[in-house]
Amino acid sequence: MAFSKVKFSFIVTILLLSSTTLLAHPGSGWGGPSGSGSFGLFPEFYQFSCPQANDIVMSVLRKAIAKDSRMAASLLRLHFHDCFVQGCDASLLLEDSAKIVSEKNSVPNKNSLRGFEMVDEMKASLEDACPQTVSCADILALAARASTVLSGGPNWELPLGRRDSKTASLSGSNNNIPPPNSTIQNLITFFKRQGLNEVDLVALSGGHTIGVARCVTFKQRLYNQNGNNQPDQTLEKNYFLDLKSACPGSGGDNNISPLDLASPAKFDNYDFKLLLWRKGLLTSDEVLYTGKVGKTIHLVKRYAEDEGRFFEHFAKSMVKMGNISPLTGFHGEVRKNCRLVN
Ligand code: HEM
Ligand SMILES: *[C@@H]1O[C@H](CO)[C@@H](O)[C@H](O)[C@H]1NC(C)=O
Repeated sequence: MAFSKVKFSFIVTILLLSSTTLLAHPGSGWGGPSGSGSFGLFPEFYQFSCPQANDIVMSVLRKAIAKDSRMAASLLRLHFHDCFVQGCDASLLLEDSAKIVSEKNSVPNKNSLRGFEMVDEMKASLEDACPQTVSCADILALAARASTVLSGGPNWELPLGRRDSKTASLSGSNNNIPPPNSTIQNLITFFKRQGLNEVDLVALSGGHTIGVARCVTFKQRLYNQNGNNQPDQTLEKNYFLDLKSACPGSGGDNNISPLDLASPAKFDNYDFKLLLWRKGLLTSDEVLYTGKVGKTIHLVKRYAEDEGRFFEHFAKSMVKMGNISPLTGFHGEVRKNCRLVN
């Protein structure tokens, strides 16, 4: 009977270990006193404290998309612009106040980001269901995944437990979000600074399979790409002519064009196929294929040929981006209103 005794004590040990784990990680958002260093995020974070969190986010977004399919794209982008500035801590959502200089007024964000009202709506529903439990940073992460799934893209297991910052960084937003006219070397450097590699860069740029960009973000390519009053020679001719009529040399800065003209509201790999056909809207996307630095060109070809591989890498890289310096444990707070510190 020695065997079953060993087996019994083994099971007891497992039970003890798992209950200790649960006690150390109650969904109310407690963590080890040393915060982010003691443990990371985990998918079951709201299992007991707000099991319906994801359903709430999905249902708010589903309704919003029915009215405006672009909303998925706008929310996916918010998570990116949050994570690249002092980590995924909802610093992006804070408004100007006595102590806060809002990131919403940075060069990449101003007159560009949208979806903040949708985040408010998600937060309000979550506060009704589970008061002061689900952080705004986790709402952005959940909304980014929901946007991907509801647009036809991949699903993934999403680590949760981020807490919200009490600070924002306007300069961080201006300095850490890559501009649309970035060279391939710039892009690699910006991503490396966040702990993201070339696979992450190319896979995550695939987020441009949905949504639109304003004329001002690609005008340089049409009229004066290299300071010699010539267009970007890598642009396919007919696409170039279409873009010129959508985006005139003067004025029209806020005219919008789809990032993926083949399927602007569907999450698929057409944006990579378009890069091979030299029909990428932004310089920062086209240089992944034409830039001749590192292995990004091979990744673009690969994702254009194999949507499954793109989906798999996108999901993995979204988890990686979502893990950029989260606040956990006793750091930060769970905001009651995503626009204000408590
Ligand atoms: C690689 C560097 C990146 C650059 C240079 C970049 C640049 C841009 C620009 C200029 C726009 C249009 C903004 C406007 O017209 O005001 C845009 C839109 C968008 N970006 Fe990016 N982006 C990058 C990476 C990403 C990543 C990593 C994601 C998400 C995974 C993402 C998701 C989106 C989405 C979904 C839109 C459309 C938003 C909408 O329609 O409201 N981007 N991006
Ligand atoms: C990108 O655009 C900015 C602002 O218009 C400009 O100052 C910068 O020189 C451009 N960079 C490149 C590489 O063209």
